Amino acid sequence: MNKDNRVNFGSKLGVILASAGSAVGLGNIWRFPYEAGNNGGAAFILIYLGCVLILGMPIMVGEFIIGRRSRANTAGAYQKLAPGTQWKWVGRLGVLAGFLILSYYSVVAGWTLEFVGEAATNSFVGKTATDFIDTFNAFTGSAWRPMFWAILFLLITHFIITKGVEKGIERSSKIMMPALFVLLLVLAVCSVSLPGAGEGIRFLLKPDFSKVTASVFLSAMGQAFFSLSLGMGCLCTYASYFKKDTHLAKTAFSVGIIDTGVAILAGFIIFPAAFSVGIQPDAGSSLVFITLPNVFQQAFGGVPLLAYLLSVLFYVLLAIAALTSTISLHEVCTAYLHEEFKLTRNRAATLVTGGCMVLGVLCSLSLGVGKGYTLFGLTLFDLFDYVTAKIMLPGGGMFISIFVGWYLDKRLVKDEITNGGTLRVRIYKPIVFVLKYVAPIGIFFIFINEIGLLKMF
Ligand code: TRP
Repeated sequence: MNKDNRVNFGSKLGVILASAGSAVGLGNIWRFPYEAGNNGGAAFILIYLGCVLILGMPIMVGEFIIGRRSRANTAGAYQKLAPGTQWKWVGRLGVLAGFLILSYYSVVAGWTLEFVGEAATNSFVGKTATDFIDTFNAFTGSAWRPMFWAILFLLITHFIITKGVEKGIERSSKIMMPALFVLLLVLAVCSVSLPGAGEGIRFLLKPDFSKVTASVFLSAMGQAFFSLSLGMGCLCTYASYFKKDTHLAKTAFSVGIIDTGVAILAGFIIFPAAFSVGIQPDAGSSLVFITLPNVFQQAFGGVPLLAYLLSVLFYVLLAIAALTSTISLHEVCTAYLHEEFKLTRNRAATLVTGGCMVLGVLCSLSLGVGKGYTLFGLTLFDLFDYVTAKIMLPGGGMFISIFVGWYLDKRLVKDEITNGGTLRVRIYKPIVFVLKYVAPIGIFFIFINEIGLLKMF
């Protein structure tokens, strides 16, 4: 596709906000707390932070380089930069990962819509923690409602995608993200001041390294990749819309900080509140949905109108955060089909939406009527989550770092990081060092450690 036909992100802030909009989503507010809770808390969080800093940010720069240099969708990018090689498979597998993630992510995104409805009809009032657990389980276990919301969520995503990159993505990120951040801050303050919150804070801050196993490492690494939208060409596709003067390293750093900040804030909302009302931190994928309504009830119970307004606002913003993420996942698949198979953008988008609807519905059913059907002991929903977050994304990240660190011409990499020599980027050398050695070797070790070939933990 001709360079000049491709749309660009308008401003610098737009670049950061759109990428951060992709990164910040259910991964931070839903998945991070539940993974942290399942994996013992503080020690997991420390390893997660290490993965974000040491692996995540440099690999993000790597994805940016591939995307901006090639100005193509992620599979096309490898074909342009490494013509005639098998590298295109890294891109293709990335597209597949995006497709699978979008399918089950839409299910959870759909739950946020149900909660917008519950908040708006004031149905949290007077309920106890056990009530919230029961209602939630009845809801996700039922067939139609979650299915309806997931499909609706995909249709909304579809609508925005077909309106185009600039208008759709950039505009929606600009106002909502800062608003969400402020609201999360308010909720965190409320949550830590609930009675009995101290134990939750300890859970977040006091690492117990005796609980660290190989799978804690894999989970933390997977969470870092998932939360940063890394390892499947999502940020590579976004970077293909970046301008020549976008500072790649700074953008990666900003996105990493914003994304991690939101996740940590979410932790400070969920765990103090969970311990305060007696919900187990390892409640799994329901954790956020059964804990948060309690925060609104307890912290603002004295001022019903405030509790009402804040809870509606929160779920609306959460749904929008999820939307900026589903848009980015959808965009990867749509750009791929559009550019590689010469389909119109509308037709490409329709195929993606339709396919995800089918898989999404199956994922949703796998939590209720289809609970009995498992593969490797996992429901379809959990299987999609495991395979993508813990295998495909870190695996993709490993190949991306090898590609940029070893395959690409050094001068090209330097040229991209320094914008043709116009920027002085002091961390250029560390970034390249990580891409060449630390990331490929580190990810490989975490993989084989999990399989048990090498027993370190
Ligand atoms: N990072 C997003 C979140 O935290 C989800 C997401 C969007 C994603 N695009 C991605 C995850 C690409 C992995 C890869 O909610």
